[in-house]
Amino acid sequence: MKNRYAIILAAGQGSRMKSSLYKVLHPVAGKPMVEHVMDQIEKLHVDEVVTIVGFGSDKVKEQLGERSHYALQTEQLGTGHAVLAASDLLADKDGTTLVICGDTPLLTAETLTALFDHHEKEEAKATILSAIAKDPTGYGRVIRNAEGHVEKIVEQKDAKASELAVTEFNTGTYCFDNQSLFNSLQEVGNHNAQGEYYLPDVIGILKQQNEVVSAFIMDSEDDSMGVNDRVALAKANQLMFQRINLEHMKNGVSFINPNTTYIEKEVTIGKDTTIEAGVLIKGQTVIGENCWIGAHSEIRNSQLGDYVEVTSSLIENATLKNHIDVGPYAHLRPNTVIADHAHIGNFVETKNATIGEGTKVGHLTYVGDATLGQDINIGCGTVFANYDGKNKHHTTVGDHVFIGSNTTIVSPVVLNECSATAAGSTITEDVPSYDLGIARGRQTNLKEYAKKLPYNQ
Ligand code: UD1
Ligand code: CA
Repeated sequence: MKNRYAIILAAGQGSRMKSSLYKVLHPVAGKPMVEHVMDQIEKLHVDEVVTIVGFGSDKVKEQLGERSHYALQTEQLGTGHAVLAASDLLADKDGTTLVICGDTPLLTAETLTALFDHHEKEEAKATILSAIAKDPTGYGRVIRNAEGHVEKIVEQKDAKASELAVTEFNTGTYCFDNQSLFNSLQEVGNHNAQGEYYLPDVIGILKQQNEVVSAFIMDSEDDSMGVNDRVALAKANQLMFQRINLEHMKNGVSFINPNTTYIEKEVTIGKDTTIEAGVLIKGQTVIGENCWIGAHSEIRNSQLGDYVEVTSSLIENATLKNHIDVGPYAHLRPNTVIADHAHIGNFVETKNATIGEGTKVGHLTYVGDATLGQDINIGCGTVFANYDGKNKHHTTVGDHVFIGSNTTIVSPVVLNECSATAAGSTITEDVPSYDLGIARGRQTNLKEYAKKLPYNQ
C-alpha cells in the first residue's frame, strides 16, 4: 500500500459565523468540529497528519495537541494557498494525500476509507468526495463532460446558470497523488470572484494535463455538510445528536422522544436504560444498565451505575453506584459519591459529599463537605454549615445516625454511630454514640396568651 497522508484545513477565520471563536472550534455535540474530523482521520492510521492553522489560531493547536503536525498559513488567501503551507512537511513525499476541511464534522472514517479505495482503484491523480444535494447552494459544483467524466469544480460565486443547476457538489474532501497535488498548486491563480487561490482548481488543471481525475459520490448528503454559519451549525448539531441517539438505540437504550434528547459523543449508556424527553447528557458521562433518566434532567461528567433513577435533576461530576433514586429537583455537585440503595429526594443539594449505603437524604437539604455512613436518615431541611466565610470544614456522620428535621450542623463536627439530633437543633459539638444532641430553646406555653393577640381582639 502507498503511504497515506492527511491535511486538515483549519486556518480560515470563518467570518460567516460572526464569532470571536475560531470556526473549527465551534462545538458539535459538545466537541469542536476539528476534533470530530481528527477522530475520524485517526481511525485511518495515515502516516502523517498536518493541520493548517492561521495566525492567532493557537487554540486549534491547543485543542489537537500532539495528534497532528502543524503548518502556519499566515494570510488566508484561499484553500489552495492553505495546502501550500504544508509544502515543507509534505511536498517531497510519495503517496496519497487526503485533504479535508475542518468544518465537515459529520464525515465518517468509513466514507473516507471508501474514498481512498476508490481513488486507488481508479488509479486517479485526484478524486473528489462529492455528494448530491437537493439544494447545493453555497457549495462548489462538480462539472462533468458529456461522457460523465469529471472536468472541474466551479465555485458557487463563479458559476454560470447551467453550472448552478448541477446538484453534485464538492464536499471539500479529496484524495490526491501527493506529488501531483503540490506540483499543480503552483499553477493555481486567483482570478475568480473571491480573489482566492482555490484548491478545487487543481482538479481542472490535472484534467487538462490528461491525468485521471474522478469523483466518489457519497450516499449521505447529511454526512457531507460543511458548516459555514450558525444555521448550518445548528443543523450539524441536530444531525450529530440524531446519529448518537441512533447508536444508543441500536445498543439497547430506549428514548421517549429522541428529537429533544441531547447526548454528547463520549457518553456511554448501558442497555435497558430509558431516556425521557428533554434530557441532556454531557462530557465523559457513563450510565449503567436499567437506569431511568427522567424528563429535563442534565448529567455532566458523571458515573452512574445500574438501576439509578433520576427525576428532573442536575448531576455534575458525581459518582452514583447502583439502585439509587434522585430528585425531583436535586442538584448533585462535584465530588459527590453516593453508595448503593441511597435515596436523594427533592430539593437536595450535595457537594464534596460521600453518602453511604442505604442512607436517605429526603427533602430540602444541603450536604457539603461531609462523609455520611450507612443507613442514616437525614431529616427535612437539614443544613451542613460547612463554610465560615473563609474556610470549608468537614463533617463526619457515623452509621445509623438519625438527624432530626431542620438541624443545622456547624462543621467541623462528628456525629458518632447511632447518635441522633433533635429537630431544630444547631449542632456545634460532637455527639457521642447513642446520645441525642439537642440544642434549642426549651418551649414554654403562655397560658391563654393567644386570646390577647390582635386577631382575637
Ligand atoms: C469549500 C470549497 C467548495 C466546497 C466546500 C465544501 C474552495 C474554494 N471551495 O468552500 O468547493 O463545496 O468547501 O464545504 O475550496 N481555509 C484555510 N485557509 C484559507 C481558506 C480556508 O485553511 O485561506 C479552511 C477553512 O478553515 C475551512 C476550509 O478551509 O475549514 C474550507 O474553507 P471555507 O471558506 O469554509 O470554504 P467554502 O466556501 O465552504
Ligand atoms: Ca466550508
